[in-house]
Parts: sequence; C-alpha cells; structure tokens
Amino acid sequence: MKKYNTLVVVGSQWGDEGKGKITDYFSQITNLVVRYSGGDNAGHQINFNGEKHKVRIIPSGIFNRNVVNIIGNGCVVNLEQLNEEFDMIKKTFINHGTLLISNRAQLVLPYHIQIDEAQELARGKNKIGTTKRGIGPAYQDKVSRSGIRVGDVGLPNFKEKFKKVWEYQKVFLKKMFDVEIVDFDHTYNSLIENYKKIKEQVIDCGEYLESAIKEGKKVLFEGAQGAMLDIDHGTYPFVTSSNCSASNVALGSGISFKYIDSVLGVVKAYSTRVGAGGFPAELLDEIGDGIRQRGNEYGSNTKRPRRVGWIDLVALRYAIRSSAIDKIFITLLDVLSGLDEIKLCTSYKMEDKSISSPPPTAEEFEKCEAVYLSTPGWKEDITNVKSFSELPDAAKNYLKLIEKFCEINVAGFSVGPDRKQTVLLEEIF
Ligand code: IMP
Ligand code: MG
Repeated sequence: MKKYNTLVVVGSQWGDEGKGKITDYFSQITNLVVRYSGGDNAGHQINFNGEKHKVRIIPSGIFNRNVVNIIGNGCVVNLEQLNEEFDMIKKTFINHGTLLISNRAQLVLPYHIQIDEAQELARGKNKIGTTKRGIGPAYQDKVSRSGIRVGDVGLPNFKEKFKKVWEYQKVFLKKMFDVEIVDFDHTYNSLIENYKKIKEQVIDCGEYLESAIKEGKKVLFEGAQGAMLDIDHGTYPFVTSSNCSASNVALGSGISFKYIDSVLGVVKAYSTRVGAGGFPAELLDEIGDGIRQRGNEYGSNTKRPRRVGWIDLVALRYAIRSSAIDKIFITLLDVLSGLDEIKLCTSYKMEDKSISSPPPTAEEFEKCEAVYLSTPGWKEDITNVKSFSELPDAAKNYLKLIEKFCEINVAGFSVGPDRKQTVLLEEIF
C-alpha cells in the first residue's frame, strides 16, 4: 500500500531521456512538481495542443494551472535567466502554474559563467563539454562555502557580504585565467532587480513540502540530467556537478527520504550523450545519423548534435541500482521504426574481460567495448499506437528484452513528442 503520494521521475541515462514530457504528463494529476538538482543547464521541451514549450530551470509542471512548481535547495539558480524564462511562459501561456523558489537554493552569478568558460578553455583537449551556464563553478562555491543563496539577497547587510565574495572572484579570475570580472555595480544591481521580481515566491522548501506531503498532496520530484551524469555515480569526470540521481531527492528538497514512495526511471529507447566522455554503445555510422535525425537529437538549448548509440543495459542496470528505480518508462520508441535490426548492449568487454557494471574511472570506461544482443526491428509507423497490443511483435519483443536484462517492469512507453502519444501499461501515480 502506498504511504505517501510521491513519485520521483529520474533520467536513467545521460540526460535528455524525455523527463520533461513525462513530468508534464503526470502534472495533469499532481499538485506539486519539485526540481531537486541542477540549474538551467537542463533543457526540456514539452509539446501539447500543437504548441511547443521549453523550460530550463523552471519545473515542467508549469504548464498546468493547478500545479505548484518548486525550485528546490539542491538547485543552482541564475535569477536573470529564471525571470526571462518565466516572463516568456507568462507571455505565451496564460494558464500557467505557480512558481516557488527555495531560500536555500544557490545562485549562479555572472562570474560563475566566466569561470565555467575559462575552465573549459584551460582544459584544452580534455574539456568536459559543459553547457557553459556556470553550473560547475556555482556548485564549487557552494561546497567551498563561498556561495550566495537566494535567501541571502534579502538581508540588510547583503551588499557588503556580496562585495567580499565578488572581490575574491575578481582576483581568482584575474590570477588564474587573466579574465576581467563583470563589474560589481552591474552584477549587484541586476541581482537586486531580479530578486525583487521573485521575492514573494521565496519559501522554505523542506517545511513547505513536508506539510504538503502529510496533507496527502501528490508531489512529483523532477530530475534533471541523468543518473550517468551524477557527480558521484556517473561517468566521472565527464558528468555534471550535482547529484542528479533519485537518491538526492531528499537532500535537494529538504524532506526526509522516508517520504519517497516510488521512483520512475525514464529511459530513451536508444542512448544519447552530449559533451565528452566514454560511450561504449556509440553509433558513428549512418544508423546513428538516422536516429539523430528522426529523434531530433540536438540540444534543446545548446543545439549541439547529440552523440547517439544503442541502448546500454549495463549503464541502465547501474542507474536502476544507484537511483533505486522501481519501474521504467521507455521514450522515443517510434524513433527506432524502420530499422532492420536493433541492438542492445548487454555487457562490456574490457581488455578481454567481461564487465557487467560500469568501471569507476574514465580511462577504464573509455576502453570498454559494447557486447550486443541483436533483435529484429520493425517497419511500421507506431506514432498512433495506444496500447501494448497494437505494437508490432518486434517492438513488443524489444521492450521485453529490456525488462528481462534489467529485471524491471516497463510501466509505459511513448511514441511521439505530444502529451497524447503516451501509453501507460499500469498505474504509476
Ligand atoms: P554542465 O552541467 O554544464 O557542467 O555540463 C557537464 C556535462 O553534463 C556536459 O557533458 C553536458 O553536456 C552535460 N549536461 C548538462 N546538462 C545536461 C542536460 O540537461 N542534458 C544532457 N547533458 C547535459
Ligand atoms: Mg534536455
């Protein structure tokens, strides 16, 4: 029996699995949607009623009038970008939901973006391929205890406090990278302007959530990026700077982990990854190009072409374990239509050794070669499929293979970007 009405929607690969679409789908029946990690490095596209909408830092429940959307304390927030994003939503979508922001969320400031760019440049050929949105440096400051939190900006002595931090960053940028920091007055004034716009929306996230959960409200926790980009459990150092795994929900939102009822892993029917790092099941041929085209695999904000590969069940099993995933939801199944055969990476081979879980170092991961199981593809267009039984046998078989190798149930699948192209096989939330 369910104790609480809570669900985590977490990316189970390298991000861009379609979490935004799934969150938006369940937002139609939820009361709250909470982001618990990351910043505006995320990019979610949500399609309904023939319209396309994008969000970066704002939770994907925003397109539902009755949903309260919260940016949790585990996130890093660029207030200027946040206001821009929310203004755009308000302009194009009247029936939007409420937006609240944790007073403990860390700020992304202009110097973080400067540091992100400078660090990437300094890494040379070892660059990570970050989104250059200042995410890593903002988390660095959080951990080194020199970050600024949303709640700080309202304090009477804030200007002095901020000036000290800015002075430090000025020297750091100059001495380390020979970069001139963005002017103090400009940075400060713009921050204050942007803070004024959201100040009434700032809350104590943990307190707010705990009472909502106890009242029996439905709360959906929306992950950003994916388990394989998690700072601890992902393909380090080619990862993002936060814990995007479901295990971070409690810390990133200020509630007890005991309130988490179930975890849904969102899994793309194939793999993609943006930026550098090992990718054993990568497709560097025309099959990969075809999937990239059909799946429109270009960064929703950065427009970077995504690297494409077959589904990686080694990485998926690892994500299921590290994020305590209960069920999975397969997205973009329609993109695989038209292929003669489809491959599933079931293990890795590393220097003649068979490996069933991703190794810890980037060096070893680079050496891993995918070992595949091949299964017949299907030619039918499945974009109008409304149930499992309508799928071609080969597609049914493909989903069953994923279930078998990962020992998990597929709770649904999607066959196109629209809200309506979503097929649920069991009650999830
Ligand atoms: P950062 O998060 O901007 O520091 O980038 C670190 C790594 O995470 C890079 O490889 C990015 O491409 C990747 N990354 C960050 N956010 C996303 C996302 O939302 N989807 C996919 N990859 C992402
Ligand atoms: Mg994305």
